[in-house]
Amino acid sequence: MKNILITGGAGFIGSNLVEDLVMNGYSVRVLDNYSSGNRENLASFQSYEGFEAMEGDIRDLHCCIQACKDMDAVIHLAALGSVPRSIAEPLNSNENNINGTLNMLVAAKEQQIQRFVCASSSSVYGNKGNDELVRPRSELDFPNPVSPYAITKYGLELYARQFYHLYGLKTIAIRFFNVFGKRQNPYSQYAAVIPIFITKLLRGEQPTIFGDGSTSRDFTHVSNVISGCKLALNAGDNAYGEVFNIACGSSITLNDLFFAIQQELGSKILPNYELERKGDIKFSYADISKAKQILNYNVVTSFENGIKDTVSWYVEQFK
Ligand SMILES: NC(=O)c1ccc[n+]([C@@H]2O[C@H](COP(=O)([O-])OP(=O)(O)OC[C@H]3O[C@@H](n4cnc5c(N)ncnc54)[C@H](O)[C@@H]3O)[C@@H](O)[C@H]2O)c1
Repeated sequence: MKNILITGGAGFIGSNLVEDLVMNGYSVRVLDNYSSGNRENLASFQSYEGFEAMEGDIRDLHCCIQACKDMDAVIHLAALGSVPRSIAEPLNSNENNINGTLNMLVAAKEQQIQRFVCASSSSVYGNKGNDELVRPRSELDFPNPVSPYAITKYGLELYARQFYHLYGLKTIAIRFFNVFGKRQNPYSQYAAVIPIFITKLLRGEQPTIFGDGSTSRDFTHVSNVISGCKLALNAGDNAYGEVFNIACGSSITLNDLFFAIQQELGSKILPNYELERKGDIKFSYADISKAKQILNYNVVTSFENGIKDTVSWYVEQFK
């Protein structure tokens, strides 16, 4: 696995993955339409031998085929993220995440790609009911997606599995759990909670928590996701057609997250609380034993160390 295509490589997770792979001697091609990603995220890799950026759209099959040419593996990250965006724009979400994924799978099959790793999401689990609130979610649990975004990610998993069983394309789907780290965009109206909290506090503004702050997530530093993707690239045949949780295996409430960031920044600002948002799941907590067992995955950066690293990166950006 030397030549890797990363779709969505100009985005937050993609650009961190590109950085890691390029530094470790892989040849990397990025396919991105820059809809939520940013050329600036790739600027520092342009001069590296073996790096190539291709502007294009996964909704265009021809473009997907061109992008897969001469590649050994694909890491498919391109998607329209955000639960609220998918509720506002379900057609757009479906076109990018389902049609786009299907195009990439067809292109990968046609170009005889050896490994196809794709990004699913913890959102496929949905809500389970009060008796199961704090139980970690295992891949054996039946998915219960409660937003268009989560439905597109469940669809991606089903397509990926069947492309293995029907056509022998070696697919592996990874359920990422609330990823955070450097280069995560805080400015989009659909930005994630950690970059929003950090940048609001840095500006002296009051961040908003939706709900009473007891909502919890398995916040996962991006280094863990990079490690999971690389392990999937080299996994054996017991991983093909399968789905894996990649996370820290812990559950942090929004209140605890807020106070961890507040403390790291030495801020005294308190959050503002508003009503919960539709489509957001209440608790998210991963059972990571399957990834440990089959992919040899281990957490490389804890939540606490990840927050320290991330806060200091944003502080540098603000100087
Ligand atoms: N960030 C998280 O917490 C998280 C959690 C679970 C799953 N994921 C998944 O991980 C992947 C990467 O997420 P991210 O946080 O880096 O998001 P991001 O928005 O920063 O990156 C997505 C990238 O895909 C590109 N893209 C979107 N539609 C495209 C299209 N039609 N053609 C080509 N490129 C397109 C965007 O321009 C962007 O560069 C996504 O599939 C997302 O659903 C992310």
